[in-house]
Amino acid sequence: MQIQSPKGTRDILPSEVQIWQWVEETARSVFGTYGYQEIRTPIFESTDLFVRGVGDTTDIVEKEMYTFNDRGNRSVSLRPEGTASVVRAMLQNRLMDGASVLKFYYIGQMFRYDRPQAGRYREFWQVGIEAFGADSPAIDAEIIAAGHQFFSTLGIKDLTLHLNSIGDPACRPKYVEDLTAYAKAHLDELCGKCYARHERNPMRILDCKESGCRAVVANAPLLSNYLCDPCRENFDMVKCYLDGLEIDYHEDPYIVRGLDYYSRTAFEFTAGGLGAQNAIGGGGRYDYLAEEIGGASTPGIGFALGMDRIIIALDAQDVAVPTSAPVDVYLSVLGDAAMPIALKLAQDLRENGIKTDLEFKGRGLRAQMRTANKLNAQYVVMIGEDEINSAAATVRDMGSGDQQSVAFEQLPEVMREKIDR
Ligand code: HAM
Repeated sequence: MQIQSPKGTRDILPSEVQIWQWVEETARSVFGTYGYQEIRTPIFESTDLFVRGVGDTTDIVEKEMYTFNDRGNRSVSLRPEGTASVVRAMLQNRLMDGASVLKFYYIGQMFRYDRPQAGRYREFWQVGIEAFGADSPAIDAEIIAAGHQFFSTLGIKDLTLHLNSIGDPACRPKYVEDLTAYAKAHLDELCGKCYARHERNPMRILDCKESGCRAVVANAPLLSNYLCDPCRENFDMVKCYLDGLEIDYHEDPYIVRGLDYYSRTAFEFTAGGLGAQNAIGGGGRYDYLAEEIGGASTPGIGFALGMDRIIIALDAQDVAVPTSAPVDVYLSVLGDAAMPIALKLAQDLRENGIKTDLEFKGRGLRAQMRTANKLNAQYVVMIGEDEINSAAATVRDMGSGDQQSVAFEQLPEVMREKIDR
């Protein structure tokens, strides 16, 4: 039997790759204007990083990691997310030494062994940004603005920003205690998953989508009523800055996030056209994560956006994506004697930045024209016996059908001019 790609993974084919590249270029350019620099971290890390960073009671760590022992018997895991790795890299490379605020972005695959469905994959792509060193609510607002600007530059519509504060170690424990007691009183109404996690991770009940749990949650105590004064003031400032930036938000007390490292600001972006998996990105503040993985206390905040979902939304929303044909010029090679000349001319055109392909199979003109059409070539440059004798190629404009003769040595210059027009 022919081998297939693993369940939950996909090939990104050349026909789709331009849209991916455009999303990546937009991310680099928008986040670049906010002062973010790219960082690349390993695709696998020591398992302990995610156990301590993301949290051992989260679904991600409990059930979704691709964990294995390497040949040296060390437990490693494919990264399920990027934040813990970026924090590790920041600490390990002492990047904070002498720095005020550090800003990084990353683009790459993440891996989670979840049940695949539309918009949910086992290998998926994120673009994320992380900022270290500042605990000012202004940077929370700035981060959210960067995400917002990225989506609007792409042309994503129907975007909602869900915003919450999930408190800090001063105020959250009392809330968790009361929420656990409340959940205990409603155990028989909870879904199996929430039943199992009501003690270990009770806050996840708040964002469960099951109808029974939603009914229980409707009357559950809310963290917003438990925030300590510093957390409340911080949240008010984040909202005030967002108002100043004219960024709409929806205060959503049920946004708790699926990773343990958050404190204070937590947010998610949802978009239309995505069905059930409509979270197109999410993030928040994580001021205790650096310490959690053994480093010096360093405030941090960031988000990650799901690129697979962004691309689904762009398609569902019929957003016009800039594309270009894979080749500008197709060189038609008619007869063996034409090949050395065609190879050289193709090289001259390419050195002039013209995307050029040529016929390698010695087929007839008609078949070569079909290929040129398929590649969307603007021009076909024909080299046959007559052309060799006159040292001039026949250039055909595939749009108008007009043909002209161009001396070989003038070809790059003439084609450059035509394509620039
Ligand atoms: P997350 O909410 O787990 O956060 O993931 C961020 C985004 O990645 C989601 O909103 C979604 O668009 C996409 N995503 C997650 N899982 C899948 C999947 N299985 N298939 C397709 N897309 C998926 C984080 O990962 C945090 N590290 C974000 C962060 C950065 N917080 C602070 N800094």
